[in-house]
Amino acid sequence: MVSVQNEPNVELASFDKVVIGASIRYGKHSPLIIDFIKKNEKILTEKQNAFFSVNVVARKPNKNQPETNPYMQNFLKQISWQPKVLAVFAGKLDYPRYNFFDRLAIRFIMFMGNDSTNPKAVVEFTDWQQVEEFGRVISEM
Ligand SMILES: Cc1cc2nc3c(=O)[nH]c(=O)nc-3n(C[C@H](O)[C@H](O)[C@H](O)COP(=O)(O)O)c2cc1C
Repeated sequence: MVSVQNEPNVELASFDKVVIGASIRYGKHSPLIIDFIKKNEKILTEKQNAFFSVNVVARKPNKNQPETNPYMQNFLKQISWQPKVLAVFAGKLDYPRYNFFDRLAIRFIMFMGNDSTNPKAVVEFTDWQQVEEFGRVISEM
């Protein structure tokens, strides 16, 4: 497992499968991940490959599929790589870990979505069965 932030020039040639995952910060996947995908598009398409996105909007049942998650749809429009497998996972809210500004902003976003604004709340929305299923699909690719 490699962080694109720490190793943007990681060599993909020696891997059989490449799974790229990214979380959402203020409506966007990191530009680093978009740059990485654009730079490696040719080799990505030659490998078995998958992409997953983690965000809290995916806690909503009508936004937890690649076809229905707005961040995933927006992401796919920004790149020409077409991942063979796509997944969207609901992430975690961890107010105590956020700085003052982030806590305030995310509480506001959650308030708009009628969800937890308790500044001490740590809420994991992840459906781990769904993650396991994704792992199974990857291992069978
Ligand atoms: C500063 C910040 C901004 C976020 N903005 C969004 C957002 O706009 N939409 C969303 O659905 N989730 C948002 N999230 C939720 C994250 O995608 C979620 O917490 C995810 O689990 C983070 O995973 P990571 O800590 O591995 O990056 C945000 C989280 C943080 C900390």
